[in-house]
Amino acid sequence: MKKQKTQRIDKILAASGYGSRKDVKKLIKTGQVSINGIVVNDAGCHVNPSVDEIVVAGKYLAYHENIYIMMNKPEGVICSTRDNVEITVIDLLQGEYSHRKLFPVGRLDKDAQGLVFLTDNGKMAHRLLSPKNRVDKTYYVEVRGKLKQCDVEAFTQGIELEDFTTLPAKLDILESEDISRAYVTICEGKFHQIKRMMKARNKEVILLKRLTLGPLKLDDELAPGQWRELTKEEIDSLS
Ligand code: URA
Repeated sequence: MKKQKTQRIDKILAASGYGSRKDVKKLIKTGQVSINGIVVNDAGCHVNPSVDEIVVAGKYLAYHENIYIMMNKPEGVICSTRDNVEITVIDLLQGEYSHRKLFPVGRLDKDAQGLVFLTDNGKMAHRLLSPKNRVDKTYYVEVRGKLKQCDVEAFTQGIELEDFTTLPAKLDILESEDISRAYVTICEGKFHQIKRMMKARNKEVILLKRLTLGPLKLDDELAPGQWRELTKEEIDSLS
């Protein structure tokens, strides 16, 4: 049987946005916190938030051990947690979850757009990013130049770049004109990978939008810059 997970009440409250550990201690000292109907006075007491009923200042606490967010990143925003000059994906959350240590899982270039997954679950992020797990990511791309069957074959074989040869990738051509449109699926996440693969085929990427990350699909109801928490089904699909 799985061991029930308990945590200190002050840690749970701090992670739920009730302020610093010091603020939380004050809440407890002033009798504003109860567990299963009993007022607590020990900030270090252990509770299981998925079983125990926690009430703070008369309100039930819905505790989430981790936060999972999908965002439709617009162009011009960087995938970092903070920056003195650029707007980051964390800035787009507008202070919500500022009490959690959220970070983007993997990177999407500043001039790229689409699905960015943010969490504070380091283990899950590591699983999604680990090269040995070969997690597929699909992008919609527009390139200058005609995409041809020989490009599809080159992607399938893996493309030789200056520093490495890519693993086999999938190129689905949607339209082949002076500006071509396609879906590209890669299972790595090297720096500027798709731009470099296209450049090796004499094409210049003019639009790049990530649509999927493993089982996660960008919600098309999210306008650029918008985000939402993952559903339970989405979280389960990643676990
Ligand atoms: N490939 C790129 O070239 N850029 C990205 O942001 C993602 C994949």
